[in-house]
Amino acid sequence: MQIDLRILRFDPERDKKPHWESYVVEADPKMDRILDLLHRVKWEQDGTLTFRRSCAHGVCGSDAMLINGRNRLACKVRLEQLGRKITIAPLPGLPVVKDLVVDMEGFFSKLRSVQPFLVNESVVPARERRQSAADRALIDDTTKCILCASCTSSCPSFWAKPEYVGPAAIVNAHRFIFDTRDEAADERLEILADKDGVWRCRTIFNCTDACPRGIKITQAILEVSQAIQERQV
Ligand code: SF4
Ligand code: F3S
Ligand code: FES
Repeated sequence: MQIDLRILRFDPERDKKPHWESYVVEADPKMDRILDLLHRVKWEQDGTLTFRRSCAHGVCGSDAMLINGRNRLACKVRLEQLGRKITIAPLPGLPVVKDLVVDMEGFFSKLRSVQPFLVNESVVPARERRQSAADRALIDDTTKCILCASCTSSCPSFWAKPEYVGPAAIVNAHRFIFDTRDEAADERLEILADKDGVWRCRTIFNCTDACPRGIKITQAILEVSQAIQERQV
């Protein structure tokens, strides 16, 4: 089957602005994924096409892009889920480095701002810091994040106000705020109580819809907002 593929291309050394380019690619809709199409274009038609990818199995989070209008991982979307006409563009709202590669520095700096790591100053036990199954369940969902940026770059509040810390950072803060072994929840809640923190969320749900890991992002944001109110940060 032939796929009509349109890709938004941009080379900062050559182009003043992004432009669409079309490709016809032979594909098997039952077997192939979007990443296979991109490889075929790059290896057989135009070696200058630039995109990120690593694991090819939905684990590393490096190949999120806008596919037929929705943020998805190229390695996870099977062609049979789409039609014969497919458009691909870089993640919206982030600066484009080249073609489908966006600059993730702002995204990662927001992530770093919420201390996405365990803080515990007490003496390390001989084996491990134990946790009950019920306590672990509180953070089950938010531990699944692979930092693909699909959520933050699909959020209209982030487009309108790029200073907004964004859903991905809040998800990763949630993962430690509700970890019973962690001691820095109040600090994180204080950071997220800032004017560019959780209050910028308007419960639009695009983030939840975009997440390739099925994380209930909007719910996590609401839980963090509630914790801020309860602790009166
Ligand atoms: Fe990606 Fe989901 Fe993590 Fe957002 S929460 S960065 S969409 S895996
Ligand atoms: Fe944005 Fe998600 Fe909130 S799309 S407004 S962060 S629910
Ligand atoms: Fe790793 Fe797609 S290439 S998630």
